[in-house]
Amino acid sequence: MKVTTASALVGALSLSATRVVAVALPDVDESFPYTGPAVPIGDWVDPTINGNGKGFPRLVEAPAVTPSSSTPSNNINVISLSYVPAGIHIHYQTPFGLGVAPSVSWGTSASSLSQTASGQSHTYDRTPPCSMVGVTQCSQFFHEVQITGLKADTTYFYKIPAANGTTASDVMSFTTARAAGNPTEFTVAVVNDMGYTNAQGTFTQMMKAVDEGAAFAWHGGDLSYADDWYSGILPCEDDWPVCYNGTSSEIPGPIPPSYDTPLPAGETANQGGPLGGDMSVLYESNWDLWQQWVLNITAKVPYMVQPGNHEAACSEFDGPGNILTAYLNNNETNSTAPESALTYFSCPPSQRNFTAYQERFRMPGSESGGVGNFWYSFDYGLAHFISLNGETDFAKSPEFPFVADLTGDETTPKENETYVTDSGPFGYINGSYKINKNYEQVQWLAKDLAAIDRNKTPWVIAMSHRPMYSSEVSSYQKNLQAAFEGLLLEFGVDAYFAGHIHWYERMFPLGTNGTIDTASIVNNNTYNTNPGVSMTHIVNGAAGNLESHSTLDSDEKQLNITAVLDQVHFGFGKLTVHNCSALTWQYIWGQDGTVGDELTLLKQFNGTCGSGSSGNGTTNGTATSPTPTGSSIPKTPIPFTGGASGMESASFLALAGSIAIAAYLL
Ligand SMILES: [Fe+2]
Repeated sequence: MKVTTASALVGALSLSATRVVAVALPDVDESFPYTGPAVPIGDWVDPTINGNGKGFPRLVEAPAVTPSSSTPSNNINVISLSYVPAGIHIHYQTPFGLGVAPSVSWGTSASSLSQTASGQSHTYDRTPPCSMVGVTQCSQFFHEVQITGLKADTTYFYKIPAANGTTASDVMSFTTARAAGNPTEFTVAVVNDMGYTNAQGTFTQMMKAVDEGAAFAWHGGDLSYADDWYSGILPCEDDWPVCYNGTSSEIPGPIPPSYDTPLPAGETANQGGPLGGDMSVLYESNWDLWQQWVLNITAKVPYMVQPGNHEAACSEFDGPGNILTAYLNNNETNSTAPESALTYFSCPPSQRNFTAYQERFRMPGSESGGVGNFWYSFDYGLAHFISLNGETDFAKSPEFPFVADLTGDETTPKENETYVTDSGPFGYINGSYKINKNYEQVQWLAKDLAAIDRNKTPWVIAMSHRPMYSSEVSSYQKNLQAAFEGLLLEFGVDAYFAGHIHWYERMFPLGTNGTIDTASIVNNNTYNTNPGVSMTHIVNGAAGNLESHSTLDSDEKQLNITAVLDQVHFGFGKLTVHNCSALTWQYIWGQDGTVGDELTLLKQFNGTCGSGSSGNGTTNGTATSPTPTGSSIPKTPIPFTGGASGMESASFLALAGSIAIAAYLL
């Protein structure tokens, strides 16, 4: 289905005068041409790359390496670590090519970097190219260096050398993962939906957790919110407390009165988001800004990521008067269109099909039998972590492949049969796309789960961007359940984390169809695991981003599956695996580090705990359950009273194409 774009490579190569060792990844389908503006910019007033002072200010974050010159010709702007088996992956980014294969020198002490590892580079034809943007605020070449054969749970030191105008990095360090079975307690920072705006407190608390020893961060999708570049030309939602577009921009059609409402003191104007904000008007610059901002974690500990809906394309839906259709399809600025007609080809090629997401990280898909940055797994000590793709590659996935666009006996869809977020598949579909078991991701999950040695990793935690259950009921949740829930329950997965909904919500332990497993509820803050029957579901989507919090609508209510619902605080999760019998989850508020919620999971462990290569088998035992104290604990099985009946009757194609802005602003 995909056609390699030679133009992408040629365009990238032309940026550097020296020989570039890089390849163009991934393939992007260009069956129909992109006909929009060369560089889409959402602020009509200031349609320039670097701004003229009249539009929004361009925010900057420090690059990973401070250049030695005030006028560098190239620079290492981003460094991002990830785990690979028995090693580490070092991903780094520059605006231009290196002219040589990327490499790092490394060793077991900072003063002796006697080893060298080299890797490969890749690039894509980003819009605008870095030749049009400040060198220290732009990434277009992506370098991958792996060091393997390392000792577990060991700190190593490394340095990235200078090449083609870059400045060499300082000597930095990383620590490898603990071997499966190592029974030592550890903590992980789990975060979802963390953009830039509104996330400063959350990120500060995450950095504190890392400084205090968190082994790695796990970000379950919706990363930079780069696709909100055009938000200044969209209307505000009625229930947003403050709405202001921040400039003298004129938008087509009637301007909502709320646009005249001044921002609260001290807040930075954004492009129409609630409570102020600070996104760029350039899709790719939002990625650059966000990646340089999160450097304080990604360069210190592995930062494991997953795809979310905001990684799919340059937009998810149209605005008032269908101004994006007029702009992106017809290259008409400040105009309207009679109907929304965004297609897969409305975005520039580099802003379709999760392209930036595929290039800007490097997860251990191939090392774990999965696929790229989309699905993979890894072990750390007593836990096995499974990253699922909740966006594509299962039946009725929120973003769907071209095959789902076909009508009649077509073999390829007409342009107007596609949708702007169409993506993938990134794995194979062996048969009908309507059947979950035909998907590589689903088959992989079954194999991955079956191969887990629960004596080494008694704890199994899964996460995707999308929740299976929530008090905010949506049709995609049923599709997630159909694809994954049966397998996760069958193999005794202990907890399923997700985001997408911008609040914090902890459910009771749930079995199939959301049946509350009351027998496993010890008290308000303690559950027993119940393999094969139930698992704990947590929606952890309130890290903060320019779309602010989700809240229950006036006609919605908290469902009986939900133990805790926080619609107010931004924050992230701290997961601590104590031993083979207990782990603790804490929801940490970004504002001050308060523990807003705490849950302990207890496991009746009957195996040989910590029998991995580095384990010592000393913590074998069974859980001791605290005396139940909860007064509101249901004592008999309670059926899930929520349901997607109102949404189920509509086809997912119609849903995806609708202008349900509130539902998509997540
Ligand atoms: Fe989302």
